[in-house]
Amino acid sequence: HAADAYRTDLMTITRFVLNEQSKYPESRGDFSILLSHIVLGCKFVCSAVNKAGLAKLIGLAGETNVQGEEQKKLDVLSNEVFVKALVSSGRTCILVSEEDEKATFVEKSNRGRYCVVFDPLDGSSNIDCGVSIGTIFGIYIVKDGGEPALDDVLQPGKNMVAAGYCMYGSSCTLVISTGGGVNGFTLDPSLGEFILTHPDIKIPKKGKIYSVNEGNAKNWDGPTTKYVEKCKFPKDGSSPKSLRYIGSMVADVHRTLLYGGIFLYPADKKSPNGKLRVLYEVFPMSFLMEQAGGQAFTGKQRALDLLPSDIHERSPIFLGSYDDVEEIKALYAAEE
Ligand code: AHG
Ligand code: MN
Ligand code: MN
Ligand code: MN
Repeated sequence: HAADAYRTDLMTITRFVLNEQSKYPESRGDFSILLSHIVLGCKFVCSAVNKAGLAKLIGLAGETNVQGEEQKKLDVLSNEVFVKALVSSGRTCILVSEEDEKATFVEKSNRGRYCVVFDPLDGSSNIDCGVSIGTIFGIYIVKDGGEPALDDVLQPGKNMVAAGYCMYGSSCTLVISTGGGVNGFTLDPSLGEFILTHPDIKIPKKGKIYSVNEGNAKNWDGPTTKYVEKCKFPKDGSSPKSLRYIGSMVADVHRTLLYGGIFLYPADKKSPNGKLRVLYEVFPMSFLMEQAGGQAFTGKQRALDLLPSDIHERSPIFLGSYDDVEEIKALYAAEE
């Protein structure tokens, strides 16, 4: 059959979300509009990433962000695009970005009910060598009544109404959950549309891969050290796990979601809270992991139960296959 090589029933992300919404008669379509603006931002960044070298987008912007990191040109450009797209959607009231020290409160005339927390460009150290990078986002709904306030975004991750990421890799893939499972869409560049290619993603119950920056091992705590030792020298007769570490959270988490295994950015003596930021890195990825049947743990508690007190707060994170995260939980429990 000649048509076998083509998908002919194209489930675009817009069609998918509209379908989902039709289940809720009270829905006003606000979420679809918000999402279409996020999708636009992702398409823009995808195209910018593809011509990074040619368009003089490689290298530093010459500024430092609030985390003390040097900003790359693409960090700054991506942030600008997402902020403008989100504000102009007319559906947001508070924005938190890795690249902006303070939260943005959208002015009244443009205001909507959604709060968006995001990492406009994740994995920026990988830009200049062409390795996969991404965008991460999480969405809250503002509490009813009253003016939007910082407390509306300083909420536990379990209160998010949606979370997702877009990976700019060998293809451009957008993975999203609105709380009823996880779905993945791949950008068809000729159509300019994200098409459903990974319906209802479930992470394998146990994996064969661990993913961590082992260069920090000298400063790790006992349970993390023991866990990684077990991955390499299992004592129960099982095979050792493989190590894969890209250094872009989006890419490392995407592989973990599809292949199974565990991703860890633990605490260490130099960074007692780890490196990854709670609101726009830890929460969205933890939300997706749980929705896919995996787990996310901070070393102390379920990650989505954390109550952040600062928008750029950090936390150690262990996430991935259910059984693999169970093992690290047991090691931390034994410490107490
Ligand atoms: P960002 O580029 O948004 O600042 O995020 C950086 C991250 C994350 O993508 C990755 O998991 C981690 O930094 C890697 O850190 P190390 O270089 O310390 O391993
Ligand atoms: Mn950064
Ligand atoms: Mn990041
Ligand atoms: Mn970033």
